[in-house]
Amino acid sequence: MLLKNIEELKNQIKQWKKDGLTVGLVPTMGALHDGHLSLIKKSVATCDKTVVSDFVNPTQFCPGEDLDKYPRTLDADVKLCEENGVDIVFAPSPEEMYGTDTRRSNDFLTYVVPPFFYTNKLCGKTRVGHFDGVCTVVLKLFNIVQPDYAFFGQKDAQQLVVIKKMVKDLNVPVEVVPCPIIREDSGLALSSRNKYLSDEGKENALVLSKILKNIKTLYKKGITDIDALKETAFSFLTAAHELEYLEFVDKTDLEDKKSADDETLVLIALRTDGVRLIDNCILGEE
Ligand code: PAF
Repeated sequence: MLLKNIEELKNQIKQWKKDGLTVGLVPTMGALHDGHLSLIKKSVATCDKTVVSDFVNPTQFCPGEDLDKYPRTLDADVKLCEENGVDIVFAPSPEEMYGTDTRRSNDFLTYVVPPFFYTNKLCGKTRVGHFDGVCTVVLKLFNIVQPDYAFFGQKDAQQLVVIKKMVKDLNVPVEVVPCPIIREDSGLALSSRNKYLSDEGKENALVLSKILKNIKTLYKKGITDIDALKETAFSFLTAAHELEYLEFVDKTDLEDKKSADDETLVLIALRTDGVRLIDNCILGEE
């Protein structure tokens, strides 16, 4: 069932809660792919009822980013959800979520601002304010849906850490369930933004997963020196790649690592073919 109205959704949730049913939430910005599908399947398997939110959240886009051209495929999304046992697709308009005050900015809206320590690095360095928008919309969704479980992809690793921190700090009664990255056979991590890539761009984009795979292989062979691991990674890059960052941080609090260990989260962001792509891995995991 497709719902666009907050009150209608809240009434349905109230009924489910009254009936003692567990509720899973899969927050998305739509343009659903197999990565989202893996979260949906996990929610449907874990919870009595599953809500998928499908909302391109304007407050998490920075000026000059791809808000207007972000892929919107609601009809196909609803079909995919229905075929996979989702109970409600919640697709509100920006006005339904934020009201009719079009001055959506820190000056006119109550925002959730995650700690600077978690957001002044990695993606937050170039996407200033992005995680304020993410946390604000995610907390709003938590308050509307009141899920027992919420499913997030490990692909957006910094987002996952920031959301877990918000949930802990603000005592939000939800269990955040991280779900593994889904990749094409080529190694490319699935992302709605892959739609922007040309064939050549797609080929160039393989460098992200190749670099991460190589770092993991070297780490397994005993190399823990981060400068040495970075140096070999740089040798994979060509003129077609504009590296934004390659960082080694702790997987729970994003603190910079001095040397690599099993708890190390390696994150990479680069531009190729005019498209900004991210990927990551945890060295201690398969
Ligand atoms: O990961 C995403 O798609 C978005 O950041 C999220 C969590 C749905 C919030 O808009």
